[in-house]
Amino acid sequence: MTTSSQWDRYAGLTPAGRQGPPPPFSWTIHPGHGPGVELLGVGPGADVLELGCGKGDRLAAVAALGARAVGVDISPMQVAAADRRWGPAVEVHQADAVHYLHHTTDLYDAVYSAYGAHWFTDPKVLLPAICRRLRPGGVLVLAHLTPGTQFEAHGPTAARVPSETVPRWEGEAYQWANLLEGCGFSAPSASEIVPPRDSTGCTVVLRAWADGGG
Ligand SMILES: C[S@@+](CC[C@H](N)C(=O)[O-])C[C@H]1O[C@@H](n2cnc3c(N)ncnc32)[C@H](O)[C@@H]1O
Repeated sequence: MTTSSQWDRYAGLTPAGRQGPPPPFSWTIHPGHGPGVELLGVGPGADVLELGCGKGDRLAAVAALGARAVGVDISPMQVAAADRRWGPAVEVHQADAVHYLHHTTDLYDAVYSAYGAHWFTDPKVLLPAICRRLRPGGVLVLAHLTPGTQFEAHGPTAARVPSETVPRWEGEAYQWANLLEGCGFSAPSASEIVPPRDSTGCTVVLRAWADGGG
């Protein structure tokens, strides 16, 4: 498991403050590029959870839909920044994602992670914990770079973030789909978003549903 201090060092790489409206939601690292928040299929009154929310920019776009936007991040610095930027429109908790999911009694209509906790947590532990907190028909959306891009790899499950190695769960889309089905999700699908011109790194977006969705 990674530590909150490792992720605080990562948090320090980007400014905490922000003024103005939230940037357009994107599943990539390029605001407004590719499909957006509509992949969550939620509207006013929905309960939505982001795992590894960072500074909360995507959550703010979810809150703008009228949904309850809840974020969890292991880094106290990220949570403080998210709260400062977007509170009280968004609700953020400092916790390990699995710990939060095991202890909350809340149920969600949608759970998502964009380059977030799912990439750095054993999916065989995390995915069943997510499934238990989704309402029937609720959706899970996961986004990350295609395997082997951006970070210097130190084996199949490692990445440097930013100056030390933390575990990262790589996998082809079909491997994630198999994992999702094995952990109680149905109808997994994957799509690839190519980067804008002059940028690198393809994003894979995985979607799957808890009981009866899809
Ligand atoms: C690569 S950053 C991405 C942040 C944000 N989603 C974004 O796209 O800007 C990964 C985030 O996941 C958080 N994180 C890593 N492991 C976590 C865990 N086990 N539980 C909760 N958050 C975690 C980190 O603190 C960090 O904010």
